[in-house]
Amino acid sequence: VAELDRPWTDTPFMFQGFQVTAEDIETLRSHCRFVYVDLGLSEPGAGRSARQAVNAGVDASSDEARSRIAPGPAYEAPFQHRREPDEGHFRELVAAAEAGRCQARNEVDRVMHDIRLGRSLDTERARESVEELVHQVSADSSAALWLTNLKNRDEYTSIHCVNVCVFALTFGLHMGLERDELTRLGIGALLHDVGKTKTPPEILNKQGALTDEEFEIVKRHAEDGYQLMYEAGGVPEQALEVIRCHHERVNGKGYPLGLRGEDIPLRVRISGLADTYDAMTSDRTYQNAMSADDALHKLYRNGAHFFGEGLVQEFIRCVGIFPVGSVVELDNTAVGVVVATRADARLQPTLLLVRTPDGAPYDKRVLLNLAAQARRGEHSRPRRIVRPHRGRLMPQ
Ligand SMILES: [Fe+2]
Repeated sequence: VAELDRPWTDTPFMFQGFQVTAEDIETLRSHCRFVYVDLGLSEPGAGRSARQAVNAGVDASSDEARSRIAPGPAYEAPFQHRREPDEGHFRELVAAAEAGRCQARNEVDRVMHDIRLGRSLDTERARESVEELVHQVSADSSAALWLTNLKNRDEYTSIHCVNVCVFALTFGLHMGLERDELTRLGIGALLHDVGKTKTPPEILNKQGALTDEEFEIVKRHAEDGYQLMYEAGGVPEQALEVIRCHHERVNGKGYPLGLRGEDIPLRVRISGLADTYDAMTSDRTYQNAMSADDALHKLYRNGAHFFGEGLVQEFIRCVGIFPVGSVVELDNTAVGVVVATRADARLQPTLLLVRTPDGAPYDKRVLLNLAAQARRGEHSRPRRIVRPHRGRLMPQ
């Protein structure tokens, strides 16, 4: 199915364009009067049976079908409560988010440094930096999410901790957590890997697969982090739980306790998902980063065993059909990097344009807000996510 008769956001389908299974047919029927099937991508004979099954009496070649599929009035957001990310405003948001990230990162570095030196730990400033991130993400998460794309293989741990915190807060907010709950979740997410200060660096930085013994040593970081932060004092119990249990998985195969299903609290599963997503989209000594949308597809296929199907689907809804940092080609063939998305207009992200329709690079920054453009009656629509060559098209 290549196209629906309504915005994808009005349906439970996670991705634009998918292969129909028998279960999908009923869901399609309940949400759509007709859909478009790309026969070129279908198995032989699939087109006719899919059309018979799905098309509830509407001829897909009819004017009605065509007019509903054609780029008509853009999807109107049901409410508008935030300022549009024009370039000046977005720069202000990015500057504030950079400062917030820097503070949080310094706190992680300081806590880990003090652990290594055997000093007593002060977690109060970590809490303050998380409160600032909660404030930023609650107001507008776009800049904080955008900056999660700036990764550095050599300073992986502290950047990863801040990224996991930002993803966990954004997702926690999406799941309806209250401000205090978000702060406790954020403290746990920011400090989730501090136990790795006890892991020998030659194991942490090993290229290639770990032996069983080495993996057993790595696994200790969850319990070690919990003990360290428990003894430090001042860390809320729910945050301690995140530090101890962020590798627990709903199939019972996680560690250190082997918890199952609902025995793993929601905030812990949120942190585990945020941790996994950031690790998948980061360069490591033993793997290259996946693109954001490859990571989401992989989570969609396999994530239910680890985090529960419902939560994975909510994460994909939260992060977006065009995740921040993904590279999108428009229907006029211009190319841009997604710098912001809004929950109420997920098909119309804001792009930093990097290539003109003629294929030439832009010589200055051009920010294109597709939702605002649609309201003005102009229609550039994302056609597909493209895979940039590694190291190119990345944000500066
Ligand atoms: Fe971990």
